[in-house]
Order: sequence, then structure tokens, then C-alpha cells
Amino acid sequence: MKQLENKIVIVTGGSGLLGKSIVQLLEERGATVINFDLNNPEDSKYFVACDIREETSIEKAISSVIENFGRIDGLVNNAYPRTSDWGSSFENTSAESWKTNVDWQLNSYALITQKVIPYMREKSKGSIIFMTSIYGIVGNDMTIYEDTNINAVATYSAIKGGLISFSKFLASLYGKENIRVNCVSPGGIFDHQDPKFVSAYEHKVPMKRMGNPDDISPAVAFLLSDDSKYITGHNLVVDGGWTAI
Ligand SMILES: NC(=O)c1ccc[n+]([C@@H]2O[C@H](COP(=O)([O-])OP(=O)(O)OC[C@H]3O[C@@H](n4cnc5c(N)ncnc54)[C@H](O)[C@@H]3O)[C@@H](O)[C@H]2O)c1
Repeated sequence: MKQLENKIVIVTGGSGLLGKSIVQLLEERGATVINFDLNNPEDSKYFVACDIREETSIEKAISSVIENFGRIDGLVNNAYPRTSDWGSSFENTSAESWKTNVDWQLNSYALITQKVIPYMREKSKGSIIFMTSIYGIVGNDMTIYEDTNINAVATYSAIKGGLISFSKFLASLYGKENIRVNCVSPGGIFDHQDPKFVSAYEHKVPMKRMGNPDDISPAVAFLLSDDSKYITGHNLVVDGGWTAI
């Protein structure tokens, strides 16, 4: 039997860089995967248009999963909405921009999770994953941004650190109901960034390369599967050793 056979899993942001790889691997391992995204350029097998920033959009999308598949075994909170000024330096980040990104990237993850939990509770089982980041754990090494147009994003650290703590709250609250809540924290993923940045990153990271989406998706599959049935409140760091030093 395949690792994820008979699992009904929602992946938010399944059309993006990491989302595509996650959807593909979960399907290969036997899951039925429903991609909740704004658009579907990848032609996902099961796609539901969903804007995770909108409560009614979340409710409609979840209802359609229940109508079509009857239950929800897994939720991967992976969508990545951000404002047009995302990437500004800390001092150039307006109060409005800060609040909006916290609302879109943190509050939205909490909202969709809240709406999915009752369906997991009905079956006394579920696995919820938050895609977080090394920058929710450690501060950025500011030297890797030197001479590039890339900034370390302050809001991102606040959001991802908040999600890591929040996942532990949920793990504690729902442990007795067999609903597990974990994080996957990737290091930097290669996406054709400025070569100076890539080379500085590779120089520092112990494994001497940036991550690829297919480095990350097996960690998600593991935490959704029954192989991790006694793991909750964990943050699985997949970073080539970045946070080890
Ligand atoms: N790429 C990296 O280096 C990296 C590293 C660590 C963590 N992460 C985390 O992994 C997750 C995915 O990142 P990514 O790099 O694949 O991002 P991406 O931008 O490539 O993809 C994000 C996806 O989310 C979708 N999306 C955006 N707004 C949405 C909304 N309102 N409702 C529903 N879907 C929406 C987009 O359409 C897109 O398909 C994020 O949580 C990100 O913080 C990424």
C-alpha cells in the first residue's frame, strides 16, 4: 500500500514553487490532493479556487471538498500571499503593509485551520502542516544580501515565528483528539535569485547548495502519513544544515 493511500489532503498554494512539488509527490504516494489556489496554471487534478484571505471563499472551498470527497485527512498551509511592496527593508515597511501581510500570511493560516478542524474531529484523526521557514527560528545572516537588491524581510520572521509557536498551541489543544499539527521549515530554495546571493548562501550553508522543492515535499508527505502518527508540535527543519551552525 502506498504511504498516503486513501488520504484526502488540501494543499493551499498548490500552484506555486513548493506547492507544485508537494501536490505531485502526495499524488504519487496515493493521496487525493485538492489544490486551493487563486489560479491553476498547472492543471491540478483537483483544483478549487480559493482565496485564503477571504472567510467566505475558504468556507465555500471546504464545503466543495466535503461534498465531493466526504472528509479531510490533511491540510497543508502553504499559500504565500504578499503585498506588492513585499521585500522592502524594515524601515521602509509601512504600518499598513506590515498589518496586511500578517493578516494574509498568518491570520489566514489560522482561519482555514479553524474551519478544517471540525471535519477532522468528526473522524478523530487529522494532520495539519504549516509551511514555515528557518527565518521563523533564527535571524537572517545579513551578509548574504550585501551588494544585491534582495532584503531580509522583517515581517516574514514575525509571521513564521508566530506560526511555529501557534502550531505548538494547536498540537497541545488537539492532541487528545488525534489531530496532529506540525511545521516544515525550509531553508532558502533556489529560484534563479541574484547569483551573488546564491553564491553567498551556498558558501555559508553546510551542504553547500540551496534547497530544491523536491528536498521539501518528502518532509510534508512524512508528516501527513501514519509514519508520523506520534509526532505533533514538531518543526521539521529541512535546510541543508543552515540552522545547525
Ligand atoms: N521559496 C522559498 O525559498 C521558501 C523558503 C521557506 C519557506 N517557504 C514557504 O513555503 C510556502 C510556499 O512558498 P513558495 O516559494 O512556493 O511561494 P510561491 O509564491 O511560489 O507560491 C505561492 C502560491 O500561493 C498562491 N497564493 C497566493 N495568494 C493566495 C491566496 N490569497 N489564496 C490562495 N492561494 C494564494 C499563489 O498563487 C502561488 O501558487 C510559503 O509559506 C513560504 O513562506 C518558501
